[in-house]
Amino acid sequence: MQKCAIVTGAARGIGLATAKQFLEQGYVVSAVDRDEAELEKALGELGEGAIGLPYDISFPEKAEAMVTDTLASFGRIDALVNNAGVADFGPVEDTDFARWRRVMETNLDGVFLCSQAATPALRETKGAILNIASISGLRASTLRVAYGTSKAAVIHLTQQQAAELGEYGIRANCVCPGPVRTKLAMAVHTQDIIDAYHDAIPLNRYGTEEELANVITFLCSDKASYVTGQIVAVDGGFQSTGVGLPALRK
Ligand SMILES: NC(=O)c1ccc[n+]([C@@H]2O[C@H](COP(=O)([O-])OP(=O)(O)OC[C@H]3O[C@@H](n4cnc5c(N)ncnc54)[C@H](O)[C@@H]3O)[C@@H](O)[C@H]2O)c1
Repeated sequence: MQKCAIVTGAARGIGLATAKQFLEQGYVVSAVDRDEAELEKALGELGEGAIGLPYDISFPEKAEAMVTDTLASFGRIDALVNNAGVADFGPVEDTDFARWRRVMETNLDGVFLCSQAATPALRETKGAILNIASISGLRASTLRVAYGTSKAAVIHLTQQQAAELGEYGIRANCVCPGPVRTKLAMAVHTQDIIDAYHDAIPLNRYGTEEELANVITFLCSDKASYVTGQIVAVDGGFQSTGVGLPALRK
């Protein structure tokens, strides 16, 4: 039986690139996304070996359905990539409870719900959970009181999962993307922000969706069989270098 990966938020961006790589590596894939129209388009690109599940993963019953449907189609789950996320940024004083909940229900509740739903199947395969956080979860920054806090919580949730699920052979790791030129990033990054990121990143550029997918699929694979509880920044060096000081460059 072929290995099976679930990727949430797979209709575009990092999730779509990850789903494509899993297929290239011989997995079958459940592509989950609440944007049905975009998911339809993505399925056209993904082709054979992928099914689309048009679910909002912030609802417990949809997270359960995602697992039930995947098992009905493919019979097993080897990897769960909790990638669906929303970036809703704003100053502390403009962040009301509605914005806070909007961010938390997908970025944090969704990761929890999907992981809980998939754990029994992952026990069967000694599978892997891969959570997507952000450099905003590693370092505080402006406008991210909800987003940054949700991602910091995902980092800790990953370590909790690794601590308890290791005895079943389930690995849990977390990838923290730096800025990637996806629709989500471009919706909130002005040209000034893009220039400032280039200054603050040792590699002087945004990452690509494929560069993220490379690390995500590696951490889910047997090649990473002794890696769990790790937080890997895929960020061009942003996190390791402190605040960028372009004026101090040669
Ligand atoms: N792009 C970046 O620069 C960047 C940086 C750091 C972290 N991230 C994280 O990477 C992940 C993917 O980001 P992206 O840039 O590819 O985003 P994107 O907006 O291009 O894609 C996210 C997808 O998730 C789906 N989605 C959102 N909420 C959902 C829900 N509740 N249920 C089901 N589907 C849902 C959306 O419909 C969308 O198709 C997110 O968790 C994001 O926070 C991205």
